Amino acid sequence: MTTRPIARFAGLGVAVPEKILTNTDFEKILDTSHEWIVERTGIRERHIADEDTSVAMLAEQASKGAMARAGIGPEDVDAIILGTATPDRLLPATACDLQALLGADKAVAFDVSAACPGFLYSLGVAEGFIASGLAQNCLVVGAEKLSTITDYTDRSTAILFGDAAGAAVVQPAEGDGRGVLSMFLRSDGKLAPLLYRPGGGACDPISTKVVEERSQYMKMAGREVFKAAVRTMAQACDEALTRAGVSADDIDLLVPHQANIRILEATAKHAGVPMDKVMVNVDRYGNTSSASIPLALDQAVAEGRIKQGSLLLLVAFGAGFTWGSAVVRW
Ligand code: UT7
Repeated sequence: MTTRPIARFAGLGVAVPEKILTNTDFEKILDTSHEWIVERTGIRERHIADEDTSVAMLAEQASKGAMARAGIGPEDVDAIILGTATPDRLLPATACDLQALLGADKAVAFDVSAACPGFLYSLGVAEGFIASGLAQNCLVVGAEKLSTITDYTDRSTAILFGDAAGAAVVQPAEGDGRGVLSMFLRSDGKLAPLLYRPGGGACDPISTKVVEERSQYMKMAGREVFKAAVRTMAQACDEALTRAGVSADDIDLLVPHQANIRILEATAKHAGVPMDKVMVNVDRYGNTSSASIPLALDQAVAEGRIKQGSLLLLVAFGAGFTWGSAVVRW
């Protein structure tokens, strides 16, 4: 059996669209209020990509940043593993468009469909590629244009989501103890109808009926999803800590998927991590699904909250249901 850490983070990059949608903007189109949104979700604003910006373009910007920081060029990339719930097209993978944009000609490129934990799932795949010798330099990406599957007439979901991308160059660990110390990934497909996009796929291909029913957009049973998020993220924190052989007291920063401030607070409380050791930027970006963890990591590094040697607990939950966690020595 391979001993950990197998893989380490060598560079991060992000892409955030310029356009901002504030809570006040929603007050003009929906029966909602800034106060309700802040109190129930912690979200103040989210960024929305324009029509001409594709998911692959957001991913390209994030990937270029990560590659520059890691000091590698497109010719060095062996694998592009892109988590997304909003691929540019159903066929082919958005990762292949990203490969073409980067000119990473020798890479294998494919998407990972795991919703919000898509970055963690992709990190797990990268670890496997590195452990098996299939790849050395992996681009692990989370990129979303959730605005394209959000129903802006539904106040219970419209206010939650934003667009962004985050990327990391993941390389073999160097034997200094830094890297991914543990990982835990889990799914429960029985709960899929609580958060899904009913129309537009092979089950119910796009049609006038799909458009009339607005079933090409995300549907969510908010309260049930909330409870499941708290339960599964708590389990994921426990698993990652146990597998790494560390305790909550050892964690320098908890970096959770940014879904809702109340979910973050409940997760931190269960894990036994005080809120001053929790990365929170849901107020600025809303829920950006698979981009959320790399976006939070990048900001924490920029703010000096993550330094070389910091011990991090990453955790995420999303549609599927899917959830996962990792302990990382930065
Ligand atoms: O990445 C993982 C994916 N998703 C999530 O993590 C989301 C998980 N769920 C949530 O974050 C929360 O459930 C929501 C923020 C979506 C909703 O908050 P809640 O406290 O669970 O509210 P609720 O669904 O229980 O609804 C309470 C009330 C309802 O009104 P009535 O039936 O009590 O009259 C809703 O219609 O709040 C109403 N409501 C709103 N009111 C003003 C729902 N959305 C809004 C809104 N503005 N935007």
